[in-house]
Amino acid sequence: MIKKSISNCILFVVTVCLSAPVFAKDVSAKVMSYSCNTCHSSDRPLTRPDRMILKGQDANKLEKSLLDFKYDKRFSSIMGRISKGFTDTELKKLALYFSQLKGDD
Ligand code: HEC
Repeated sequence: MIKKSISNCILFVVTVCLSAPVFAKDVSAKVMSYSCNTCHSSDRPLTRPDRMILKGQDANKLEKSLLDFKYDKRFSSIMGRISKGFTDTELKKLALYFSQLKGDD
């Protein structure tokens, strides 16, 4: 019984270690981006298309916009509240993620 528990424990640790790459940067940015796509989807943005398509935009520009929203340096109706829900590092990852999307991504 104890032997079985120990081997299950070892199996669990090995599984977690092997699955670590699944939690790499891009995946978490991708998961976070799901909460943006309702409004920022490139095929049917909810408001001004020129501002709402994030795909392929410059990463630094996106990051600056998000930080400006978060720290109330730029007026927003909704983005101030949304960006306050993320750490600065997460906003950087999101900016990088959206900047790297192209075509049908
Ligand atoms: C409820 C709809 C909504 C959601 C969800 C949303 N946004 Fe926005 N976003 C807006 C609106 C509206 C604006 C224009 C600024 C404002 O009034 O808040 C905007 C503006 C922006 C801009 C500035 C774009 C530019 O070119 O000026 C960025 C960058 C941005 N959003 C990123 C994001 C990210 C990243 C997420 C997900 C974490 C997200 N948004 C989620 C509605 C949304």
